[in-house]
Amino acid sequence: MVHTAEYLAKSGTSISSLLQGGYNHPLSRDWHNQRMLTKDMFIFPLFVSDEPDEETPMESLPKMKRFGTNKIVAYVDTLVKKGLRSVILFGVVKQEAKDEVGTAADDPNGPVIVTIKLLKKHFPDLYVMCDVCLCEYTSHGHCGVLLEDGTLNREPSVLRIGKVAVNYAKAGANCVAPSDMIDGRVKDIKLGLVEANVAHKCMLMSYSAKFAGSLYGPFRDTVGSAPSHGDRRSYQLPVGGSGLARRALRRDMEEGTDAVIVKPSTFYMDVLKDAAEICKDYPVCAYHVSGEYAMLHAAAEKGVVDLRAIAFESHYGLVRAGARMIISYFTPDFLDWLE
Ligand code: PBG
Ligand code: ZN
Repeated sequence: MVHTAEYLAKSGTSISSLLQGGYNHPLSRDWHNQRMLTKDMFIFPLFVSDEPDEETPMESLPKMKRFGTNKIVAYVDTLVKKGLRSVILFGVVKQEAKDEVGTAADDPNGPVIVTIKLLKKHFPDLYVMCDVCLCEYTSHGHCGVLLEDGTLNREPSVLRIGKVAVNYAKAGANCVAPSDMIDGRVKDIKLGLVEANVAHKCMLMSYSAKFAGSLYGPFRDTVGSAPSHGDRRSYQLPVGGSGLARRALRRDMEEGTDAVIVKPSTFYMDVLKDAAEICKDYPVCAYHVSGEYAMLHAAAEKGVVDLRAIAFESHYGLVRAGARMIISYFTPDFLDWLE
């Protein structure tokens, strides 16, 4: 047996290279987390449709369902009882309800506005966020209003998006989160909230660093928002564009955002870390998107990973990188797992 002192001298390593005693117990292992995953970090995406009695499983998103406004309260109730603190709403409307400017987005009788009111009435303490975008409501499936050549018409787009956000805030949303990525919308939304006298009671959380990758497929299937022509590369960020992400994060802070989102998450941990640094005085949120969720489920089904273990590992990665909140389809699972 080699004497430890001799071993250390011979190998040129120092006494501080011995680490294992520091994490040999489950409790001491937990103490190494700079921050722990907690239930109140989780924001759960809810899909609400204009079919009031709907409760349909979503094919490409395991365990997720789309709910009509007659079904949503009972479902959310089960989660609130387990400790759910926050949801983010997405509307799903029939093709016939879609038009060039996404009128259905803030229809006073549409699924999002009705659900905001329902949830605030039944769960006054639930933090209700709304994704703000037009792609779920436009006939062409793009996130804004288009010019004749099919490209984005910036000004009417941000005016329309600003109006939608204000209408969600007026209906009682605690937070509006624009996901369109069109230049200048944060400022227009903030001004709109100020003018409508709701800026003091509605958070503006911008999807500031949102990339045009291949991880949104299951979401677009679910809400039928795949663009009918072209793609979103002229407004969502190119996957290599970490510089653009930093510029967009700084810009959105200057335009008055209250918090920022990085999306997707696992493949963009460097961006998340950048955001935590650049926006260190802001809550930074990671969006673990539909494709990430579906991939982990698929891998678990194949026996490649254990679902619970991989969900913890990926979400701890986000916390480590600097996320303070996580929008995640795993939220109901974590409410059980973190019990
Ligand atoms: C709407 C929006 C999308 C997502 C959130 N808001 C889709 C997109 O940009 O195409 C994606 C969420 C997910 O994939 O889970 N703009
Ligand atoms: Zn969109």
